[in-house]
Amino acid sequence: MARSASLHVCSVCGHETARWAGQCPGCGEWNTLVEEARPVGGRDRRGGPGRRGAGSARTPAPVALADVEAVEEARLSTGIGELDSVLGGGIVPGSLVLIGGSPGIGKSTLTTMALANLVAAGRRGLYVSAEESAAQIRLRAERLSSGEPLRIPVIAETDLESVLATLEREHPEVCVIDSVQTLHSAELTSAAGSVGQVREVAGEIMRVAKARRIAVLLVGHVTKDGALAGPRVLEHLVDCVLQFEGERERTYRTVRAIKNRFGSTNEAGVFEMHDHGLVEVLDASARFVGEATRAPGSVVLCAMEGSRPLLVEVQALVSSSELVPPRRVVAGLDRNRLALVLAVLARHGGIGLGAADVFVNVVGGVRVDEPGADLAVALAIASAAKRTALSAAATNRPLACFGELGLTGELRTVAHADRRLAEAAKFGLTPVLEPGGHKTLRHALASALQRDAPAAEAA
Ligand code: TYD
Ligand code: MG
Repeated sequence: MARSASLHVCSVCGHETARWAGQCPGCGEWNTLVEEARPVGGRDRRGGPGRRGAGSARTPAPVALADVEAVEEARLSTGIGELDSVLGGGIVPGSLVLIGGSPGIGKSTLTTMALANLVAAGRRGLYVSAEESAAQIRLRAERLSSGEPLRIPVIAETDLESVLATLEREHPEVCVIDSVQTLHSAELTSAAGSVGQVREVAGEIMRVAKARRIAVLLVGHVTKDGALAGPRVLEHLVDCVLQFEGERERTYRTVRAIKNRFGSTNEAGVFEMHDHGLVEVLDASARFVGEATRAPGSVVLCAMEGSRPLLVEVQALVSSSELVPPRRVVAGLDRNRLALVLAVLARHGGIGLGAADVFVNVVGGVRVDEPGADLAVALAIASAAKRTALSAAATNRPLACFGELGLTGELRTVAHADRRLAEAAKFGLTPVLEPGGHKTLRHALASALQRDAPAAEAA
């Protein structure tokens, strides 16, 4: 393929240049030039006029919404309940789903399992791997299949043009592309995984997929902070973005939708990595409550995973610090939220930890991204600082709580209080410390820390 078939376009001013440069000759901005496929001979490779020759634009007539024919399409079930519900009821035919997550989290495992189920249900599937050989994919599939025949058609290919040709020829109903960063278009000179390449690969796959009505599961790697060139630039392009989260060393993983054109973004699925693949965790609350330590520094949070309540243990450790400023280490929660809770604890709870290292962890590798976790963080830290174990009065069960902390020390209500309370009641964790019964952090701390019967034995 011609090596000169690309050009570099500035993402700020749109200036075009044949050669890449660090600084845009048009606007002077740095690192804004991104490689794109050049329209060949005035026509791009889609067969239409090139970017410059778009004079013959169509003029579509607007149609009132009521006159638009609404088609409710049958979804393709992946056979994995948690995944189907995150997608809003299964895969929509012809849709493009991006599955992002850090390396080793289980993206290939999940997509292989889904495709195996779809193929077993009689759907035409195709697994395109640009990362592993067919033999490696077979090894993984064997671990997952528990003896069933391995019927998934696979190709191991890194060249985009070959993959597109295969899609055209085979036109499967569902196709997995693993991954978008390792496919490479010969039209561009930049390396696989660069912004230009990732955009080109996704754009071309989308073109074929929409034309042929192929549902595509596009796998993409994201670093911990989501910074890597790649999936982030595709979010506007695809129909759904699923985020696969969790820590590689832990067994629990969650899949949540952060964009979904065909369903809500409230759903999340919980999985556990076993030696024979990912297993749906349907009783996650029971596990986490059963494993709760109930030592000083531990509290149970009634969290929401999408529209489902989930009980998780939040742990804190407070120790005197040698460092200035002291350490603030957090796993499974937002770091800034911890800073806020510490400030409110100091100002309104009488617990100042300016000279102490503070560690906070959501047990099991679960990530909780909601303000309802504030009170749990505050109580876990207070419990650790006072070396007092918390437990529900009378029942001697772990203390459960939820609620947002306001900057003036008030407890604020959060969404779905009834579902959270019901989930706690299911496991006998009553009464729950929450904004309905306690209006301020000071009040909640007094209730939690005064129950010192089990504290004496734990201390
Ligand atoms: P993988 O799906 O290859 O991750 P990704 O495609 O996101 O990079 O697998 C992730 C890890 O899970 C891998 O290190 C091995 C482990 N694993 C299991 O523990 N059990 C299994 O059945 C499989 C297939 C993988
Ligand atoms: Mg993989």
